[in-house]
Amino acid sequence: MSFNIENIPSQKRKIAIVTGANSGLGKEITIGLAKKEIKVIMACRNKSKAESAKAEVLSQVNSADIEIMLLDLNSLKSVRSFSTTFAEKYDSLDLLIENAGIMIPPLTKTEDGFESQMGVNYFSHFLLTNLLYPILNKTEGARIATTSSLAHERGRIDFDNLNAEKSYSKIGAYGQSKLACLLFAYELKRRLEKAGSNVIAVSSHPGVSKTNLFTNIPILAQFLMAPFIPIFTHPPKYAALPTLYAALGPDVKSGDYFGPTGFNGMKGKPGKVKSKPHSYDKKIASELWDVSEKLTGEKFLL
Ligand SMILES: NC(=O)c1ccc[n+]([C@@H]2O[C@H](COP(=O)([O-])OP(=O)(O)OC[C@H]3O[C@@H](n4cnc5c(N)ncnc54)[C@H](OP(=O)(O)O)[C@@H]3O)[C@@H](O)[C@H]2O)c1
Repeated sequence: MSFNIENIPSQKRKIAIVTGANSGLGKEITIGLAKKEIKVIMACRNKSKAESAKAEVLSQVNSADIEIMLLDLNSLKSVRSFSTTFAEKYDSLDLLIENAGIMIPPLTKTEDGFESQMGVNYFSHFLLTNLLYPILNKTEGARIATTSSLAHERGRIDFDNLNAEKSYSKIGAYGQSKLACLLFAYELKRRLEKAGSNVIAVSSHPGVSKTNLFTNIPILAQFLMAPFIPIFTHPPKYAALPTLYAALGPDVKSGDYFGPTGFNGMKGKPGKVKSKPHSYDKKIASELWDVSEKLTGEKFLL
């Protein structure tokens, strides 16, 4: 079945959280959801950036129902405080879109000592899902959408060096974090089913799109890549569609993975795609889950 966002009817009265909603794909996802009359909580770390993104969303969808809530994924304390604030105000959550991410920064650690890509892209989203799960679970048809990347393909989970305790490879850590997001999404599907929950766990990747994510790529490499950008990438508006498919598609099932279906999965129409076999490894997924519970300090879906 092909997905056409124009054919999705209004989803009025639904509530979504989008992490990293102020930039790139998150902003486009917010616009896409707002067009379907979904109330969007923009979960962002920087209030003024979030305010200007909100203004942009409103300039495109003037009826948009948008609220900004501060969330810094560099800090588990912030994840806890965001979740508490949300739970005090709302008693339903239809869509949790885990989109925020960083790519190939110099070695830095989060407030809790995680390597920053693992912390921001994966561990904080793991805890966020855990803390919001009670609300998601009581919302009919709720979905959790995790964002991965083609970079998962060369990623591997190195349990002895999960947070760059021994060595740091920027690209290796990014691949590891994006593989972790996928292993998590598939393991979440299995555990939700086992727990008898109807919450749907899906995942997506955008292909390649020139956004602020590329800030850490050296200037010379950016210059050399420039002529190829229009050939191998697509604009954020289109790169957001696999996530919008995961969030809104009527034919979506738990465990599905969405991405662009064109050349090498880098661009093209959104569709159901397959991730690499190592992302379906149940043993690694289960071990990663256990480690994630331990490092975030909370048991999840026992
Ligand atoms: N663009 C691509 O080609 C591509 C390819 C594969 C996967 N992805 C994935 O798509 C997702 C969105 O990326 P993008 O391309 O839209 O990049 P982007 O434009 O840089 O957006 C990333 C978003 O994440 C937010 N973020 C970063 N660190 C955060 C933190 N500590 N706490 C809260 N929010 C934080 C950013 O906020 P600030 O503005 O405050 O930094 C921004 O809103 C990421 O998960 C990325 O890995 C992108």
